[in-house]
Amino acid sequence: MIVITGASGNLGRLVINELLKSVSASELVAMVRNPASVEDLARQGVGVRKADYTQPDTLDAAFRGADKVLLISSNEIGQRVAQHTHVIAAAKKAGVGLLAYTSILRADTTPLGLGVEHRQTEAKLAESGIPHVVLRNGWYTENYAAGIPAALERGVILGSAGDGRIASAARADYAAAAAAVLLLENQAGKVYELAGDEAYTLSEFAAEVAKQSGKSVRYQNMPEAEYAKALKAVGLPEALADMLADSDAGAAKGGLFDASKTLSTCIGRSTTPLSEVVAKALA
Ligand SMILES: NC(=O)c1ccc[n+]([C@@H]2O[C@H](COP(=O)([O-])OP(=O)(O)OC[C@H]3O[C@@H](n4cnc5c(N)ncnc54)[C@H](OP(=O)(O)O)[C@@H]3O)[C@@H](O)[C@H]2O)c1
Repeated sequence: MIVITGASGNLGRLVINELLKSVSASELVAMVRNPASVEDLARQGVGVRKADYTQPDTLDAAFRGADKVLLISSNEIGQRVAQHTHVIAAAKKAGVGLLAYTSILRADTTPLGLGVEHRQTEAKLAESGIPHVVLRNGWYTENYAAGIPAALERGVILGSAGDGRIASAARADYAAAAAAVLLLENQAGKVYELAGDEAYTLSEFAAEVAKQSGKSVRYQNMPEAEYAKALKAVGLPEALADMLADSDAGAAKGGLFDASKTLSTCIGRSTTPLSEVVAKALA
């Protein structure tokens, strides 16, 4: 039995859909805070257990009888190490055979501030002695695709990524990798550096949006502090704006680039091209 945490989220849902291609629904458990959010999965026969990363007792119950657990990193930035530590402790108590954790590309050396909590979680995993595998996910292409409507309206994409090349992949690609690893044997101790086959700069991303939309869109690079200020000016919360600007600055230093093709090797197909994600966003 495999428990997938964060099953109500974008990635969790995709992982479950991917696993359902190979295993029966009765072997899967969706761990969620709000069972009503995954009624569709329950109807397909997927088990649903209610638990919260902040409530250790609920996690103990959620992992009972689990052979494997996929810990999808929390989206509550700043709270994540404490939350993930609860998950690791509960999985250990339940005696799970493998815990897979979604980390960040090259968590050990990444210049992105987001790496700190992932590094600390990886250290907690190592300390715990639980058999585990680390899925170090690169950037989702959808992160940039989400900004396309605003880019079309303003004719400009702002950022601080300079000429940094970004080897992003679609969420569905990372989900396919997570499912593949969960279904393989002998994964304990492995670390996968996962990123897209194709890499682009934000200028190239803007050019792709312009080409497909037929509208004028260009990339405007700016210093990290100014970009953070611009994001706050359009209403983004302070911490989110700072995180996005810091991530762009990290991308400028090569933090989102990878040429290993580990992801496509793992899923047995090429990763989703940028052009396809842009086309989907425009449609
Ligand atoms: N690689 C990238 O580019 C990138 C980009 C964004 C995020 N991420 C990371 O990757 C993760 C998965 O991405 P995603 O797109 O699937 O994110 P998402 O759609 O925001 O999903 C996050 C999931 O975490 C769950 N969660 C949050 N706090 C929780 C708690 N206290 N207890 C139990 N569950 C909790 C949410 O449950 P609810 O439905 O109850 O809220 C949701 O299911 C994110 O959480 C984040 O750590 C990576």
